[in-house]
Amino acid sequence: MKAMISPSILSADFAHLAKDIDMINRSEAAWVHIDIMDGVFVPNISFGFPVLKYVAELSEKPLDVHLMIVQPEKFIPEVKALGAHVMNVHYEACPHIHRVLQQIREAGMQPAVTINPGTPVALLQDIIREVYLVLIMSVNPGFGGQKFIEHSIEKVRELRELIDRTGSNALIEVDGGVNLETGARLIAAGADVLVAGNAIFAADEPEEMIKMLMNAH
Ligand code: DX5
Ligand code: ZN
Repeated sequence: MKAMISPSILSADFAHLAKDIDMINRSEAAWVHIDIMDGVFVPNISFGFPVLKYVAELSEKPLDVHLMIVQPEKFIPEVKALGAHVMNVHYEACPHIHRVLQQIREAGMQPAVTINPGTPVALLQDIIREVYLVLIMSVNPGFGGQKFIEHSIEKVRELRELIDRTGSNALIEVDGGVNLETGARLIAAGADVLVAGNAIFAADEPEEMIKMLMNAH
């Protein structure tokens, strides 16, 4: 099965963002992955809405927005204003996750929930029918270029089982340390969407790498 690819611009050249977004526009990538950090939920800060406004204007691909922030529901209007396709919030950042997912849907975006490496798939049981997508973090969030956590493969299999058992249509996305080798195994385990930062932007031919990741086996 072919995977959808969502290149993470966290690994792009911030001095020449337009050039990297053009590359994504020309490529076979499905979406653009946007990592928003607050220095509280994760130990790093990336970029905020004033910068993303320009990214959104330049991108011809739907935006896959991954919020690594506390109280992400506060920013539903801002994410909507970007024209986002998917709004990803962390399970660990939302005590009222069910309500937040509904608010995202009511705002006209596709609701997605993200789980950290230390959060079990089983906790998604009661919200799996409410989400368009589940994002499994295969590194601890905050930085690009980290080593893939092996247990993530097992989590993808478990999530595939949960989705099949409950009749949910949720897509499975994986983020962190994805390359041709881990990507192939994630696709085999049931992943639908692969996020990749370093593997794409450090490649000699990023467009070609996107194509190879799509077809990794
Ligand atoms: C990590 C971010 C990822 C990151 C992935 O906190 O959520 O999207 O950019 O980067 P790589 O693919 O380099 O691990
Ligand atoms: Zn991400």
